[in-house]
Amino acid sequence: MPSSQTFSPSSKRGFSDEERAGVYRAIFERRDVRQNFLPDPIPEDVLMRLLQAAHHAGSVGFMQPWDFIVIRNPSTKRTIKRLFDKTNEEAAARYRGSRAQLYRRLKLEGIEEAPVGLCITCTRQRGGRHVLGRSTVRETDLYSTCCAIQNLWLAARAEGIGMGWVSILKFGELKRVLGIPPSIKVMGYLCLGYVSEFAGRPDLENAGWRKRIPLTDLVHEERWGSRARSDKESEHANYQSLYTNG
Ligand SMILES: Cc1cc2nc3c(=O)[nH]c(=O)nc-3n(C[C@H](O)[C@H](O)[C@H](O)COP(=O)(O)O)c2cc1C
Repeated sequence: MPSSQTFSPSSKRGFSDEERAGVYRAIFERRDVRQNFLPDPIPEDVLMRLLQAAHHAGSVGFMQPWDFIVIRNPSTKRTIKRLFDKTNEEAAARYRGSRAQLYRRLKLEGIEEAPVGLCITCTRQRGGRHVLGRSTVRETDLYSTCCAIQNLWLAARAEGIGMGWVSILKFGELKRVLGIPPSIKVMGYLCLGYVSEFAGRPDLENAGWRKRIPLTDLVHEERWGSRARSDKESEHANYQSLYTNG
């Protein structure tokens, strides 16, 4: 638990230390989960809380472009898993040598193991032709749907539910399986379920695929290219360790 001196007196309107710690813990301990799913069903009220969390995301012009398809039928999941296998084989063929071997060892979905599958879509026509704020950047409806998915991801972590985002699918094929009209955009297929454990680091980092970039490499002061002080990175690391059990 962080000491109260960590925060400035101006944070009076913020959450209590305990509440704030919970929010940051969910953020730092959120993981993309593809394994360790337990067969226990997700109770309806818990699933509804997750969907409500998603539904309370920000959206351009308050457009709320998302829909959620809840999938529990094993035979539908099997069909979707076959679509994944085909697409993943094509993806694997793009790598060579040791990278190709490593790619084939990665577990990149939990479609059949996860008790609930969730397909999240973006209805780009919702709200009519002129949605407040979307005229300049047309993709803001897609960004909004990603915000909803992130809300769901964090809420799921707080509930002890793992979530894995599967994008290695041809969404046209997925739409046929799920009866999604052509005009609607699929944003992702999510695998959801209680898990025996959450990994402390991203699976891709554990597998040696890629590392987290130091935050100081990504922060610019005032103008592009002017780097933040490197000692800020250790401040960030300390901050993270305050909120995680790892
Ligand atoms: C838009 C999006 C699509 C993703 N698609 C996949 C996927 O198809 N398969 C997979 O295993 N992980 C997928 N991931 C998860 C990332 O690999 C994961 O977020 C990243 O490695 C960092 O790990 P962490 O989420 O545990 O912090 C996706 C994540 C995002 C945001």
